[in-house]
Amino acid sequence: GAPQTRTPTGAETGVPATAKGQQGAYLTTANGARLRDTDHSLKAGPRGPVLLQDHHLREKITHFDHERIPERVVHARGAGAHGVFTAYGTAEAVTRAGFLKKGRETEVFVRFSTVLGSRGSADTVRDTRGFATKFYTDEGTFDLVGNNMPVFFIQDAIKFPDIIHAAKPHPDREIPQAQSAHDTFWDFVSLHTEAQHHAMWNMSDRGIPRSYRTMEGFGVHTFRLVNEAGETVLAKFHWKPKLGVHSLTWEEAQMLGGIDPDFHRRDLYDAIEAGAFPEWELGIQVFPDTPEETFAGIDLLDATKIVPEELAEVQPIGRLVLNRTPTNFFAETEQVAFHLGHLPPGIDVTNDPLLQGRLFSYVDTQLTRLGGPNFAQIPINRPHAAVNDMLRDGFHQHAVHAGVAPYRPNSLDGGNPFPAGDAEHAFLDVPVTVAQAPKVRANPASFDDHYSQVRLFWLSMSPVEKEHIIRAYTFELGKCYHQAIKERQLQCLANIDPVLCEQVATGLGLPAPQPTVPLADVAPSPALSQVGRAWPAD
Ligand code: HEM
Repeated sequence: GAPQTRTPTGAETGVPATAKGQQGAYLTTANGARLRDTDHSLKAGPRGPVLLQDHHLREKITHFDHERIPERVVHARGAGAHGVFTAYGTAEAVTRAGFLKKGRETEVFVRFSTVLGSRGSADTVRDTRGFATKFYTDEGTFDLVGNNMPVFFIQDAIKFPDIIHAAKPHPDREIPQAQSAHDTFWDFVSLHTEAQHHAMWNMSDRGIPRSYRTMEGFGVHTFRLVNEAGETVLAKFHWKPKLGVHSLTWEEAQMLGGIDPDFHRRDLYDAIEAGAFPEWELGIQVFPDTPEETFAGIDLLDATKIVPEELAEVQPIGRLVLNRTPTNFFAETEQVAFHLGHLPPGIDVTNDPLLQGRLFSYVDTQLTRLGGPNFAQIPINRPHAAVNDMLRDGFHQHAVHAGVAPYRPNSLDGGNPFPAGDAEHAFLDVPVTVAQAPKVRANPASFDDHYSQVRLFWLSMSPVEKEHIIRAYTFELGKCYHQAIKERQLQCLANIDPVLCEQVATGLGLPAPQPTVPLADVAPSPALSQVGRAWPAD
């Protein structure tokens, strides 16, 4: 059927959407009436009082009074940039996604963020960083909503409110603002020990990146890719920065927090304005799509686990260049709305229970944050593919819908919405078999291993990186008020590595406990250490 939704895009109108509202040489009211004065209220004589009838004064102040929208419940502080993704074509065998065909160029918008701090918090805190990418593909938008760490604190989305309540500032004093240096954080990760892996990534140099330009990015979850023949593989996405992976030292991070709290934001914008465009390579680890959904004994649905790169090589599939800073922070960086359900044909989800909960959460929060169900019409969120949906009305509706029959099929104005041959470009859910199993609130047994990969990470670090990790645990745990929480976390460290536990315990002035589980028998993974790592750009 003919498209029935008319939402003019910037490209169609020829006017950048972000510039609207500031056209023309003279100042007007929001209604377009020309103004002569915006500095003086309308008064009864120069000494007042001010008259209620001053519609310009009331409009100016009323609009200002409503400028703020709720900040994101997590990842509130961010910095964004526009860019271009160019596909190498190397993923064509495993996915039919058009934007991954050789030579295809796709516009993107990337938003980097910290997780825990509020919108005005400092950039260089110890925290996970968000790395969210919106690919405006001609088959629909693809959002890859990842972090700079390949694992997550929890395995099931139902615990997300809990970990965030534990990690955000304490509810009584609202301190500390954005660091993991407090009782509830360590209380949570020492009781919910699946969080120990992510916590160690936070305590490592990865927790204090030097720049957004020198961070890796990870899709974290395992996705399912589908090719033209309908064959599937499982895959994990990785971003590799051209400049290599670099971190700040803790002393640098702390000083910058005072001297230049906007350090990462400034660095990103200054680099782009200077023409030093940040670049990443997108890569995938590919695994056979077996019924077990495991690889080398690792459960691919467990978001607290990685697959070491020496077991499954990261294969480059394209290149991202960020080449344009936003025109307006609010319009673009603040209003951008990512959603894991934004998937083009050729990329599908798996049953990872963390991923499944995220599929619900993002749109749900955006309904409040962006004021109703029509935020897909905000310029930064508009797909670059033609939109012909049956969604109607609602707060802030900008589209002018023609026709009388917003249902399909209809015999009045719809035509055939699914013409022959259309399946080639349509998103088709992979018909994965769903197990015949009792309904349970339970994890698979493979999710119970909480220590082996933390030990793998620890053993993979160079001596200087280990030293930084020991100092980070000592500093952060040293900020806890409750000794029982410090002792419980030391018990977790004993289960990871006795040397690590001993050193941190000494720093805290506490005895080092004995392990309560056998130490995992794992070999170091070279790709996990950052020391001396650089990624060839060409
Ligand atoms: C926001 C990553 C898990 C709920 C974000 C953002 C990123 C991100 C990068 C910021 C997006 C932006 O820049 O606008 C991740 C990763 C996860 C994860 C990598 C695990 C692998 C979860 C889970 C939930 C969740 C399990 C909830 C069940 C949210 C919410 C927002 C958010 C509500 C705010 C979205 C908005 O206001 O637009 N996440 N997240 N996240 N995340 Fe997650």
